[in-house]
Amino acid sequence: MSEKRILLIVGGGIAAYKTLELTRLLRKAGIAVRPILTKAGAEFVTPLSLSALAEDKVYSELFSLTDEAEMGHIELSRSADLVVVAPATADLMAKAANGLAGDLASTTLLATDKPVLMAPAMNVRMWEHPATQRNLKTLQGDGVTFVGPDEGAMACGEFGAGRMAEPQAIFEAILAALSGAAKPLAGRRAIVTAGPTAEPVDPVRVLTNRSSGKQGFAIAAALAELGCEVTLVAGPVSVPTPKGVRRVDVETAREMLAACEAALPADIAVCVAAVSDWRPEHVAATKTKKTGDGPPVLTLVENPDILATLSRSAARPKLVVGFAAETHEVEAYAQGKLTRKGCDWIVANDVSIAGTMGGDDNAVAIVTAGGIERWDRAPKAEVARRLAQRMAKEFS
Ligand code: CTP
Repeated sequence: MSEKRILLIVGGGIAAYKTLELTRLLRKAGIAVRPILTKAGAEFVTPLSLSALAEDKVYSELFSLTDEAEMGHIELSRSADLVVVAPATADLMAKAANGLAGDLASTTLLATDKPVLMAPAMNVRMWEHPATQRNLKTLQGDGVTFVGPDEGAMACGEFGAGRMAEPQAIFEAILAALSGAAKPLAGRRAIVTAGPTAEPVDPVRVLTNRSSGKQGFAIAAALAELGCEVTLVAGPVSVPTPKGVRRVDVETAREMLAACEAALPADIAVCVAAVSDWRPEHVAATKTKKTGDGPPVLTLVENPDILATLSRSAARPKLVVGFAAETHEVEAYAQGKLTRKGCDWIVANDVSIAGTMGGDDNAVAIVTAGGIERWDRAPKAEVARRLAQRMAKEFS
C-alpha cells in the first residue's frame, strides 16, 4: 500500500477530531494524505495539526494564487487514488449531490475522476431528513461509497444514527476501496507502442520524426497503475521506463511490429507510436558521399501498418486503440482511420497546436463507431490516466 494516495476532505463537524486519528493511521500504513480543510472544518481542527499529521500542506482556498501556482485545483482533485470525505457533513453531501462548486472541497468533488468514499457525520435529525436521504441516494447512484454513520450518543446530546464511523472502520473502508477500485485491469495484458521509428538510410543517417514518446509512456504507466501487465514497445526516445512496465526497445517499424506480435496475446493494444510510413528501399552499406552529381535519390517503400496488422490479427486484442496526429481536419481523418485500420477507438490530437509535439499537454478527441467525445486540454499524464480508466471500463 506504500504508494497509495488519499485526498482527504475534512468538513466542519465535531467528528473532525477523529479525522486526525484517521490521518495518523493512514500515514502509519504508508499511505500519502493530502488534506483539504473546509472553512467550517478549520473551526474544529487546526490546519497546523492536520498538516503535521498528514506530513503535507493543507489546501483550503479555491482562489489561492500560491496553491494554483503549485497545483491547480483540477489537478489536485485527480492527484490521489481515492478521495475521502471525513466528516462528510450534511452541507458537503448536499453540495456534492447537486454539483455545487463554490469552494475548494465541493469543486474538488465535482472535478475528480477518482472514486469517492464518504464518512457522514451529523445530528440524527439532519441525517434522517428527507433532503439528506435524497442526497445520499443521489450520491450512491453516482458511485460514491459510504462508511457509517454509526448509531450512538451524539455530541449534541441526542441519540441515533449520525455519529461518524470510528477511524479504524474508515481506515479499513479506505483499504478495501483502494485494493478494489485501484486495480480494475489486474490480470489483463496490454501492448503499447510509443515514440518514433528510425529507418536507416545508411550507417549514419535515419528517416525519423519528432515524436517524443511522452504520451505513449504515460499511457503505459497509467495502464500499469491500474494493474495491467504492460509491454511497452518503444522507438528511440529518452524517456525513463515507467515503473512496473516491460520495455522493448526497437528502431524500425518492422522491428516494432515483430516486438508487438511477440507480445501477443493481449487484451489491449494502444498504438501511440509515430511509425514512419516509409523506409528507404535500400540501405547503403557505407556512408553515402557527395559525388558532385547532385543529391542521391532515395526510393522509399511502405512500412507495415502495425495498428492495422494488430486489428486484423487472428489473436486480435479485444480493445485496439490508435492515435491520429493531424495538422488539419483532425476529426474527419480520425473517422477515416477508424474504419481503414479496423481499430475500436482513434484518439485524435491536433499537432498543429504549438507545443503538442514534444510538449507536456495534449487536447484529444476520442473517436469511436458511436461518435466523438472531445476532452479538454490537459497534461499528457492526465490524458493517459483518463484513457486508462476509460479502457478499464471496457473490461468491467
Ligand atoms: N500506425 C502504425 N503503423 C504504421 C503507421 C501508423 O501502427 N505504419 C499507427 C499509429 O501508431 C497511430 C495510427 O496508426 O496509432 C495513425 O497513424 P498515422 O501515421 O497518423 O496514420 P497514417 O496511416 O499514416 O495516415 P496519414 O498518412 O493519412 O496520416
